[in-house]
Amino acid sequence: MKLHLGSDHGGLALRALLAEVLSAAGHEIVGVAGPTEAGVSVDYPDVAVELCARVLADGPGSCGILICGTGQGMAMSANKIAGIRAAVVSDCFSARMAREHNDANILCLGQRVLGDELAKLIVETFLAAEFEGGRHARRVAKLDAAGGS
Ligand code: RB5
Repeated sequence: MKLHLGSDHGGLALRALLAEVLSAAGHEIVGVAGPTEAGVSVDYPDVAVELCARVLADGPGSCGILICGTGQGMAMSANKIAGIRAAVVSDCFSARMAREHNDANILCLGQRVLGDELAKLIVETFLAAEFEGGRHARRVAKLDAAGGS
């Protein structure tokens, strides 16, 4: 799975941690969006748009993780883009369901909401889960047909 990571300043530390952990676990991180040093303030919609464009360009099977203070701004921005299904997740059950039922291609996390260990577990769960298809495929097709708002 091609994996992209992005954050604003409010998610920079968690993004750096996840980059390290995911690389060590053998995941291929193909792109990183957002500031590279602390103290640089950016606007989360800019990062979300950049990262989502890369995920869409990579085609099906690629996915992204967007981190800001709460995950909310990133998800709101990402879900404006056709073909993106972004889920703000704070627990492992929702992480699994977001993939299995909603075929989420973007996971949004809040650095100011989650502890590091929970964030790592959520990411692990999200990446390990697979879309179930079947009745969920019909619903996701309707969701995609509705487009970005
Ligand atoms: C930045 O201070 C903060 O507003 C942003 O990271 C995010 O939480 C917005 O949703």
